[in-house]
Amino acid sequence: MSVVVNTDRAATIIDGKSIAEDIRLHIAEEVHQMKSTVGHVPGLAVVLVGDRRDSESYVRYKTKGCEEVGIKSLLAKLPGNCTENEVMDSVARYNEDPSVHGILVQLPLPKHMDEERILSVVSLEKDVDGFHPLNVGNLALRSRKPLFVPCAAKACIELLLQSGIELMGKHVTVIGRSKVVGLPTSLLLQRHHATVSVIHAFTTNPEEITRESDIVISAAGVANLVRGSWLKKGAIVIDVGTNPVEDSTSDYGYRLTGDVCFEEAVKVASAITPVPGGVGPVTIAMLLANTLDSAKRVYGLSD
Ligand SMILES: NC(=O)c1ccc[n+]([C@@H]2O[C@H](COP(=O)([O-])OP(=O)(O)OC[C@H]3O[C@@H](n4cnc5c(N)ncnc54)[C@H](OP(=O)(O)O)[C@@H]3O)[C@@H](O)[C@H]2O)c1
Repeated sequence: MSVVVNTDRAATIIDGKSIAEDIRLHIAEEVHQMKSTVGHVPGLAVVLVGDRRDSESYVRYKTKGCEEVGIKSLLAKLPGNCTENEVMDSVARYNEDPSVHGILVQLPLPKHMDEERILSVVSLEKDVDGFHPLNVGNLALRSRKPLFVPCAAKACIELLLQSGIELMGKHVTVIGRSKVVGLPTSLLLQRHHATVSVIHAFTTNPEEITRESDIVISAAGVANLVRGSWLKKGAIVIDVGTNPVEDSTSDYGYRLTGDVCFEEAVKVASAITPVPGGVGPVTIAMLLANTLDSAKRVYGLSD
């Protein structure tokens, strides 16, 4: 799909579901080939601590994604009151397991745990979330290559590239600077030669900055933060936000909405991702892709 920047009609909706479906089909083929060539399939292990409903449902999506493409999935589920050492032991066991090529610790962890300490135990070669400090550092250094790039950041770039949107020289604003989305997205965009502005909770003039941007990527976690008036006519909008808002008409009592006020933005932007059905499915596809890449490195099948 190629997006033609238009300035006088409603935005093209970038279909994350169908982009993710194509990526998954390609991964499934490669997994099948790997099985026939070396007799192994990639393995992804998830460490889930506590019983947050949102985390449990994200883990279910990831497990289902693995099943669909033939990747083996393993899950270590620990109670919320376990110790930091118990979580690190689970990670260490997966580090040693040769059938596991990717390990992810579902975030957020309970408040009493030191997230950075736990994440730094994940083997660099199995860090499919890309949160290990060395992978983050290598992403930041143009002369180095990280083994893994965080999945949501990769998904944003994939959605733009698959939509035929050029990044070199474009002014892109990223809203958010977290290690999960905002920071790696801004670093990855620079590797694609975009000029990047980063907005965070202390930025005093966010609208002025976004209004000058060719592309706006929002990952603030604030429903309807970005209004139509924040956008330049014809801008491209990638909405990473996934925010639960009350909805009595929904079976669950809530629905998910993005950071961007879709109804307003669709009238100003030239292309926009919906929530749900935009960044989310592609993020999961990128996790599967990272796990496949890791297994290919282990079995000497990398390009
Ligand atoms: N679709 C997907 O695949 C996917 C994947 C991951 C996350 N998400 C969603 O993306 C959103 C962000 O996730 P996250 O993990 O990055 O969240 P996070 O760790 O809470 O980070 C939020 C970032 O947004 C900034 N921010 C918060 N309020 C703001 C405001 N009013 N104006 C400007 N900046 C603001 C914060 O600034 P400070 O640094 O100054 O505090 C922070 O850098 C969430 O809705 C999450 O559910 C979606």
